[in-house]
Amino acid sequence: MEGYQTGRPEPRAVEEAVEVLREAGRRAPRLFGIPSGVEGLDELFFTTRFEDGTPKKVPLGGYPALAVINLTGVADTGKTLMAEQFAIKQASLGYPVCFVTVEAPAAFAAAALRTRSAAMGIDYDRVQDQIVLVDAASHAQLRDDVPTLLATLAHAIRRFDTNSVVIDSVTGLFEAKEIFARQIVRQLFNFMKRWYQTAIFVSQKRTGHEELTAEAAGGYAVSHIVDCTIVLAKRLIQTPAEARLYKRPLGEIVRLIRIDGCRLCGHSTATHLMEITETGLVQVGPPISRLGGREADAGS
Ligand SMILES: Nc1ncnc2c1ncn2[C@@H]1O[C@H](COP(=O)(O)OP(=O)(O)OP(=O)(O)O)[C@@H](O)[C@H]1O
Ligand SMILES: [Mg+2]
Repeated sequence: MEGYQTGRPEPRAVEEAVEVLREAGRRAPRLFGIPSGVEGLDELFFTTRFEDGTPKKVPLGGYPALAVINLTGVADTGKTLMAEQFAIKQASLGYPVCFVTVEAPAAFAAAALRTRSAAMGIDYDRVQDQIVLVDAASHAQLRDDVPTLLATLAHAIRRFDTNSVVIDSVTGLFEAKEIFARQIVRQLFNFMKRWYQTAIFVSQKRTGHEELTAEAAGGYAVSHIVDCTIVLAKRLIQTPAEARLYKRPLGEIVRLIRIDGCRLCGHSTATHLMEITETGLVQVGPPISRLGGREADAGS
């Protein structure tokens, strides 16, 4: 075939790519939880330990360490709040975080983080130096050119010795070029792995996407690549049956959260109720199956 080249493997690359399983295993990361800052969420991830030969389910106490997590949902479902709660929580524990703001310019993102911190009862002045803000909302080059963004992130990670990265949102990085979504997310995913970062990628769902599925803008690209997908949804109570089930009046919104999948550890597969408190904090409630009634079984 014209133009087709049979590639000759470069010896050093081959050397690096081929590994004995035992060697790779030695460098395998340990599984533990990274507190999410979201009440009720940390217990939904778990691992299995053997005690006296019997397997036991042990809560991880947070997002699995070093996971790249896709946090998706339509507008106003609480994605940004959850991303901020994670950053503040990590910072309060003394772990530096890199927060890439793609939607809101730095000053607005900083104000939101301050509000979130106050709602969490955490002194913002004590934690703000642990959060490195990368303003991709104001700097088009960071949004439009992945190598520039990655070089900036590498600098921030090295300089501030961060353990985790939040990107709100990755969708903003492929605006008007969704066919590149997969390629962009793959590059970001590989980068987080190379730099040993736990990462939250916020991604936006269009209202046309079926709620509570992992599909987001750019198709299923994001969820296929990442380690874990969490879906947020809101549902309008439209029928008396729904009103009875959720114990809310007609016309109100009920919020839901579901861990769609996680490659790194076990997790709850149920759809859980979710609240956004008056001060703007996401809290995870019980599974909807526990509300009782036939509607709950149909909805979970
Ligand atoms: N400070 C606050 N106090 C009370 N409620 C708030 C506060 N901030 C946000 N909310 C509520 O939480 C909802 C979700 O907000 P959030 O910004 O997290 O949405 P999002 O999923 O990031 O949406 P988008 O895709 O548009 O960015 C808001 O619509 C609002 O109802
Ligand atoms: Mg948002």
